[in-house]
Amino acid sequence: MDCVTFHVNGRKTTVRDVSPTTTLLQYLRGPLHLAGTKEGCAEGDCGACTVVVLDAEAPGGPRWRAVNSCLLLVPLLHGTHVFTVEGLRSGPGDEGLHPVQRALVDALGSQCGYCTPGVVMSMVEACHRTDLDAGWKLDDQMCGNLCRCTGYRPIREATSSIAGLCPDDRLRAALSGKRDAQPSLDYATDGLRGSQRFCIPTDWDTLFDVLERHPSHRFIQGATDLGLDVTKHGRHFDALVSLQGLSELRRLDTNGSRWSVGAGVKLADLEDATDHAVPPLSRMLRFFGSRQIKNSATVGGNLCNASPIGDLAPVFLALDATFVARGRGGERRVAAEHFFTGYRETALQPGEVLARVEFEAPPPTARFASYKVSKRREMDISAVSAALRVHVDDRGTITSACFAFGGMAATPARARAAEAAALGQTWSEQTLEACAAAIGSDFTPLTDHRGSAWYRSTLAANLLRGFYADVADEPMPRLPDRPTGTLLGGPRA
Ligand SMILES: Cc1cc2nc3c(=O)[nH]c(=O)nc-3n(C[C@H](O)[C@H](O)[C@H](O)COP(=O)(O)OP(=O)(O)OC[C@H]3O[C@@H](n4cnc5c(N)ncnc54)[C@H](O)[C@@H]3O)c2cc1C
Ligand code: FES
Ligand code: FES
Repeated sequence: MDCVTFHVNGRKTTVRDVSPTTTLLQYLRGPLHLAGTKEGCAEGDCGACTVVVLDAEAPGGPRWRAVNSCLLLVPLLHGTHVFTVEGLRSGPGDEGLHPVQRALVDALGSQCGYCTPGVVMSMVEACHRTDLDAGWKLDDQMCGNLCRCTGYRPIREATSSIAGLCPDDRLRAALSGKRDAQPSLDYATDGLRGSQRFCIPTDWDTLFDVLERHPSHRFIQGATDLGLDVTKHGRHFDALVSLQGLSELRRLDTNGSRWSVGAGVKLADLEDATDHAVPPLSRMLRFFGSRQIKNSATVGGNLCNASPIGDLAPVFLALDATFVARGRGGERRVAAEHFFTGYRETALQPGEVLARVEFEAPPPTARFASYKVSKRREMDISAVSAALRVHVDDRGTITSACFAFGGMAATPARARAAEAAALGQTWSEQTLEACAAAIGSDFTPLTDHRGSAWYRSTLAANLLRGFYADVADEPMPRLPDRPTGTLLGGPRA
């Protein structure tokens, strides 16, 4: 039986007889005695546990990614490199402080210090990024790190001063080192609750063999949903099958206006790729989780957990996307609209995996915007989300309409009555008012702690009204830069 091997702060670690649902945070603080990495929430919300992981298959070449170690299961690290706050120490000069630590000290960016190791590691990713050229990108980089006592202004100041520095540190050296392809893994342990297995197949045939041998398997990618089943719900899994060894799933291809997005594409990469090309998609991703979450979470994970408030589904519905499922017998294409079959249920058959999503980028003349309504701007779950698209011909007539919503029903769904009220009508405020009236017959939303049925229905109608105003000047508006209250002068502010 295989063991899990990876490098922590440059040293090889070999894992045996440790449950495959052990989180990286537990392993660092336990067997490895690296207690610098802290636990706050154990659910991806506070950033105290942030470490950086080498992503060898990132588009544009290997890069360091800040991730939440409280959600990552140890076998997901097989074959890769991790740095924690202890690994930044370069030597005796300047008290051995890394430039990001020095910057945080100089900006007085730490008080009780509990959040500080996590803040430092998010800053480490920032200092190795070369694209942090706007204030909102700095906010996005750091929005997954909560600090209850220092205040964010000094932290942001320190981050601004080191962004893009790319210092000659141990992480840079590791980036240029030799890297092997993702190794396969078949790891199993016996525990009080029975045996648990974790497999990383690296080709399709092996994947389907593994699925047949372990019919009660669960797929795992970034673990930002599944990790919570472990840390919050104490779930036991007989067999977890990671898809990270299938490099085809990480492909993001464009051919003219035709897009093909692998189910393993990380959301941070999708956000980058769609920034100018598919604004409704990048708008939705801008307020999705945190940088750490988007660095781990994948497109396939978001769609296959089939949450009614999953943020990508409405956008893919409005794009009229096709979901490609792959099984032993080949591929099967499912229209986005038929993919969500019930509450947290999909059209995937046993033994099938979601391989990729295909769609046609909307023409520049399409009027298309997406909206996420939540109680906070950063790091919150949608009460209601929407992706709204219409095509208007030269005479001002609506020739097609697609209004897709999340949070309004048991599945992400289209508002057919509202769409019918738009079709063939003049593109006008009155028409959108008629759509807003019609949407009442499309959905009977639930009341829960995120909003009452009345709130959700009113919101959905108002989003349609707002859509008209939003796309009046720009058919596919990008989000305006809305920096935080800690805005400072200078080009990076
Ligand atoms: C702090 C925090 C903030 C979050 N914020 C948001 C948010 O703003 N919006 C939002 O929509 N979600 C949010 N999420 C939920 C989560 O991050 C996303 O759903 C994410 O995209 C899941 O991707 P993953 O790769 O981590 O999936 P995983 O957790 O690895 O898997 C999720 C599910 O999908 C299945 N699966 C994964 N890939 C495949 C595949 N290719 N084929 C078949 N089944 C597959 C797995 O078996 C599992 O059931 C948040 C989560 C956390 C912890
Ligand atoms: S401990 Fe809070 S994000 Fe991991
Ligand atoms: S310094 Fe105390 S929580 Fe940030």
